[in-house]
Amino acid sequence: MMISVLITGGKGQLGLELAEAFSKRVVVEKVHSLDVDEMDITSRESVSEIIGYLQPDIIVHAAAMTQVDSCEDDPNLAYQINALGTRWVYEASRSVGAKMCYVSTDYIFDGKASKPYTEWDVPNPVSVYGKSKLAGETEVGNHALITRTSWVVGRYGQNMVKTILRLASQEGDLKFVDDQFGSPTVAHDLAEKIVQLSLEGRIGVYNVTNTGTTSWYELAKFVLETAGHDPSRVKAISSDMLPKERKAPRPSYSVLAPLALELSGAGCLPHWKESVGDLVRYLIEKD
Ligand SMILES: NC(=O)c1ccc[n+]([C@@H]2O[C@H](COP(=O)([O-])OP(=O)(O)OC[C@H]3O[C@@H](n4cnc5c(N)ncnc54)[C@H](OP(=O)(O)O)[C@@H]3O)[C@@H](O)[C@H]2O)c1
Repeated sequence: MMISVLITGGKGQLGLELAEAFSKRVVVEKVHSLDVDEMDITSRESVSEIIGYLQPDIIVHAAAMTQVDSCEDDPNLAYQINALGTRWVYEASRSVGAKMCYVSTDYIFDGKASKPYTEWDVPNPVSVYGKSKLAGETEVGNHALITRTSWVVGRYGQNMVKTILRLASQEGDLKFVDDQFGSPTVAHDLAEKIVQLSLEGRIGVYNVTNTGTTSWYELAKFVLETAGHDPSRVKAISSDMLPKERKAPRPSYSVLAPLALELSGAGCLPHWKESVGDLVRYLIEKD
């Protein structure tokens, strides 16, 4: 049976990778990749009308208000997009009988742990972004697939690897914090795993990140080294030395353990160094 897929947040860094990853699958006949200009998820009418008209078999809900500091400035908007917007997408998915995947985040944790968070650890978000994304998880409950990810970087949109490469091409030192730890995740790998889990009809929470842990400081050094720059230009600073306009508290340790992938035999993602290395080489070649 051929199927059709609808992606929200279709112009985002993950949405663009998802559209490519689904299009490669022979069972996928049509991919509808929509962003805010085609379907604003804060409009219940628009979401219901468009999803009702397109009748997708699978919906991957990647749209979100992702600027964590803007979420602190406008909590109502963050909840309108990340929580209520998810309610409208979920409601519409139920009315057409579509399977749904919600993309969630490491920011649902407070970062006080000293070992990786599993899918069964209790969330405790400390930022408006984290709280509103956790509210989105609650909206879909355990009737949908929830993929939690972290530190997404990729070919499209703005992300930390692109920022590091831009700074590296300029004069001077680069300053990155060495007291925040996580797992960088390449959007291409994440999209491929979401496609696999969705096509398998899975529900429930899966942590989907590249494996391995690093700090922003170590990541920056790795990117410079891979790109042929001198990694000693990267200097370590602590989070309290960052500009005060960064309003949202960031979890200092937000490593997600891919326990559900491991225990269910669904396969883990490659180590972050392998995937980020490939991404850096791709970005350099493209420029
Ligand atoms: N980036 C990360 O490090 C990270 C980490 C963990 C989890 N996630 C989650 O992964 C998913 C994808 O993230 P991403 O990195 O691809 O983010 P992104 O590049 O910011 O993409 C999100 C997309 O959603 C769109 N959007 C915003 N408001 C909308 C609305 N009202 N209706 C429809 N679309 C709307 C955005 O449009 P505008 O750009 O015009 O606002 C953007 O194109 C999100 O759910 C995010 O919470 C991301």
